[in-house]
Amino acid sequence: MLNLINRVRKIKLPFFANFEIYFDLGTSVTKIAIQDRGVILKEATYLGYNQRGHDYLFFGDEAKSILGKTPEFIKIIRPVVAGVISDFDAEVALIGKFLERSAYLYFSNSWIKPALRGFAVVPGIATEIEQKAVQESLFKAGLSQVYILEKALATAAGAGINIFSHKPVLVADLGGGLIELSIVGSGGIISQRTLKTAGDHMNKVIYNYIYLKYGIILGEATCEQLKINLLNFEDEEKITTIRGKSLETGLPKTVRIKTSDIKEALLTSFNQIIDTIKELIESSAPEIVDEVIGGGIILTGGLSTIRGIDRFISQEIKIDVTAGGGLEYATISGLMKLASHEEELSKLIIL
Ligand SMILES: Nc1ncnc2c1ncn2[C@@H]1O[C@H](COP(=O)(O)OP(=O)(O)OP(=O)(O)O)[C@@H](O)[C@H]1O
Ligand SMILES: [Mg+2]
Repeated sequence: MLNLINRVRKIKLPFFANFEIYFDLGTSVTKIAIQDRGVILKEATYLGYNQRGHDYLFFGDEAKSILGKTPEFIKIIRPVVAGVISDFDAEVALIGKFLERSAYLYFSNSWIKPALRGFAVVPGIATEIEQKAVQESLFKAGLSQVYILEKALATAAGAGINIFSHKPVLVADLGGGLIELSIVGSGGIISQRTLKTAGDHMNKVIYNYIYLKYGIILGEATCEQLKINLLNFEDEEKITTIRGKSLETGLPKTVRIKTSDIKEALLTSFNQIIDTIKELIESSAPEIVDEVIGGGIILTGGLSTIRGIDRFISQEIKIDVTAGGGLEYATISGLMKLASHEEELSKLIIL
């Protein structure tokens, strides 16, 4: 009987045959979208692993929220590092849980599960094995077909660029694990530079800065909150009071942290981004330099939501810079867009 049910479950109904689901397996935030509904899930790429029972207990935002607060037998895992899967089993478990929470909800009343066709992206620095790991993790999580595209192309499409145009454009994806700077045009990536000192690394830089300047130890989550709440490039000086652990006494200590502290801490990180953008433009072929400079730079990813970052970068490199307007979701929305272009899709699929 069970066998029969399983066999019937595998029958693909025409309506479901093309049900598509899109994945941006980001280092910090996993984004999942489904056809006709857009982004339906956005959760932290974190899990809580139970070392006693050898199973995963916490997923996504919940796992991130308990970072540093768990008993010793619960280990917080980040399965994606610098844009590529570093813990395969954990990533499969996380995707499985997210699917259960999202797409499968739509079919929870039905005993016939749809055949899901998945699309995902990989960064330019991913090796062939790392690309395959993304595909394999989605197969393991229950998808029946999985196609992999280049992340920079999806991001550019999501930022409103026609990636097939012969006019190249520079897109800067300022994410949690990677800063991916790409010149995109004629349906492909013309040149690219990558930095691993991205948003999450900045949290560690803030940790070190506060430790050295104020003599207190902060949690990782607090460092990220300081960055998100205080950092802006609009000359607005904000102040916040935080409690950390004193280095001297080991007891809680309160200090006041200002926007200028965070800016000073992260100055080197931002200068490195600016230097790499300059270097990417300078090393471009003479035929495209003018067009790239003329077309301006588009910022996407979580760090593109820092207020005034467009003006700051623009002042430094004397090129127009655009940011904002939901561009932190450019990758996933662009992936949806590209997947809907049936004719061009075959040229974009790398796996
Ligand atoms: N308003 C903000 N100010 C500063 N940093 C922010 C802000 N909002 C988000 N971030 C940071 O952006 C990063 C997450 O960005 P994003 O969602 O683009 O990363 P990701 O797609 O998961 O990573 P990647 O693409 O590098 O693998 C985190 O480091 C987060 O702290
Ligand atoms: Mg990203």
